[in-house]
Amino acid sequence: MIIIEQPKELARLANDLTQRGVTIGLVPTMGALHAGHASLMERARKENDRVILTIFVNPTQFNQKEDLLRYPRTPKEDLALAQSLGVDVVFMPQNPEDMYPDEYRYQVTEHSFSHLLCGAYRPGHFTGVLTIVLKLFMLSRCQRAYFGEKDYQQLELIRGMVDAFFLPVTIVACPTVREHSGLALSSRNSRLSEEGRRKAALLYQKLRVPHGVEQIRKELENSGFQVDYVTELKGRRFVAAWIEGVRLIDNIPWPDATQEKG
Ligand code: PAF
Repeated sequence: MIIIEQPKELARLANDLTQRGVTIGLVPTMGALHAGHASLMERARKENDRVILTIFVNPTQFNQKEDLLRYPRTPKEDLALAQSLGVDVVFMPQNPEDMYPDEYRYQVTEHSFSHLLCGAYRPGHFTGVLTIVLKLFMLSRCQRAYFGEKDYQQLELIRGMVDAFFLPVTIVACPTVREHSGLALSSRNSRLSEEGRRKAALLYQKLRVPHGVEQIRKELENSGFQVDYVTELKGRRFVAAWIEGVRLIDNIPWPDATQEKG
């Protein structure tokens, strides 16, 4: 497994692979890898000649400095997992400026869906996500890129960017991986106490009951959550809520949800 820190080095390697007709699958992450990320790497391993994993805690998608500082970082364990799953290349820039040689002047901005759901609570978040993902696509020359459905809004916005800019990348959506309790795996779960983790499972449990979204919001608030939203749209039900100072999100298919509700 090759570890690369410099964008130009990744570009050189990817260019060489592409010229030789080698297919590349990209798994973009911010590290603190868990079984959800493992499922993306495993799928990429099956479908491509080479797998590139990226680990970069992208500062531009954090709207709170505190959240960026507290984001979990486990590079040693991440590299061991990547190695065990047959990843070929890990790209882990150490210096954010290396990914933003333009001094943060150029950005990809979407003007509609990115303002709803998480975008309404995390201003600028999706601009940061789309900008870094475009950079990673360009550097890695990937034919396929793998994203989890847990971050469904992110997934939809990346699909939209691929269409808008005619990018030659197939976006592969992978199902949310859950703990036995139903809690969606997330790097942020590691910041929860045992009690917090037990409570956090309520997010998924409540999403699935046929109550209205306002009722679900009340029930979550009564259980100690601070709720950003419980909403139905685009055929899904979405929730974002805080517990023990950790913001968690989840979503499930909800066929009745064509109009925005909640
Ligand atoms: O989903 C994530 O971990 C991040 O938003 C991503 C796609 C790696 C961009 O930094």
